[in-house]
Amino acid sequence: MTVPVIVDCDPGHDDVFALWLAAGRPELDLLAVTTVGGNVSLEHTSRNARIALSVAGVTGVPVAAGAPGPLARELSTAEWIHGENGLGGPELPDPDAGPSPVRLDPRTATELIADTLAAASEPVAIIATGPITNVAVLLRERPDLAPRIREVVWMGGSTDRGNATPYAEFNAWVDPEALDLVLRSGVRFTMVGLNVTHRALVTASVRERLAAIGNRTARFGDELLEFFCRTNDEVFGMPDGPLHDPVAVAVLADPDSVTVARTRLDVELVGSETVGATSVDLDGMLGREANAFVAVGIDVDRFWAGVEAAVAGLA
Ligand code: RIB
Ligand code: CA
Repeated sequence: MTVPVIVDCDPGHDDVFALWLAAGRPELDLLAVTTVGGNVSLEHTSRNARIALSVAGVTGVPVAAGAPGPLARELSTAEWIHGENGLGGPELPDPDAGPSPVRLDPRTATELIADTLAAASEPVAIIATGPITNVAVLLRERPDLAPRIREVVWMGGSTDRGNATPYAEFNAWVDPEALDLVLRSGVRFTMVGLNVTHRALVTASVRERLAAIGNRTARFGDELLEFFCRTNDEVFGMPDGPLHDPVAVAVLADPDSVTVARTRLDVELVGSETVGATSVDLDGMLGREANAFVAVGIDVDRFWAGVEAAVAGLA
């Protein structure tokens, strides 16, 4: 059974591989892509999402720009990992040109998501791989569409430490209010946090396997990974860069590759040192009703095999 999906992203090196996995897996039907300010500005993330699809030869999937920044805070970006343009490394092609042009849809992200949900023959899953602002805006402005959302799978948060602050992961830290709104909406929600994505490491063996695919997508991807591994080494001492975002896609593309637990998930909004921290009550200490699924394990070999197969099927 093919799962209809929308990917909401902030490309970002790992977001590109999430888009390729969503586009390249037969288990998923990529209906639309929306972008958000996050790793870099909305202008860059929107251009980069179009570049990702164009390089891979994925045409016919609308791309619309969404929120430039969080619901209630100033945008904090991550050029230190992704570079000034968000896709440091390769020379970036013009997404409006070339054999597979991908133009920016004139609708807002909310309009494109709403139109996509309304036109779908069944509820659609939203895979969010950046600050979850666009999903929050949709649920705030169009609560009537909530039943048309199959579920939200989000790369963000962590069951333990953070990467933006000691206790907050970047996507949660940028817009914690958006995460809180989505959690309170009651939509089925799965969090794929650093506790799992830090095992999706781009080792030398992974890079060799992906590069050996040899198509245009793999060549572009290898230049991305060279930069991404270098900056993750410089910033975090992780030369095998953790490719966070495609793990969220794998939850739907290959559910047996990622283990999830039903638990209580809350996000810190006011802590002096802990804003954006995700409180994952795996042991039920708080006695609160479970409200989310949280990723707790990954079959790393199976995950990379899925990424490899997807890239091999693209241009
Ligand atoms: O913390 C990692 C997450 O923040 C990833 O989605 C990465 O692309 C950045 O958005
Ligand atoms: Ca991202």
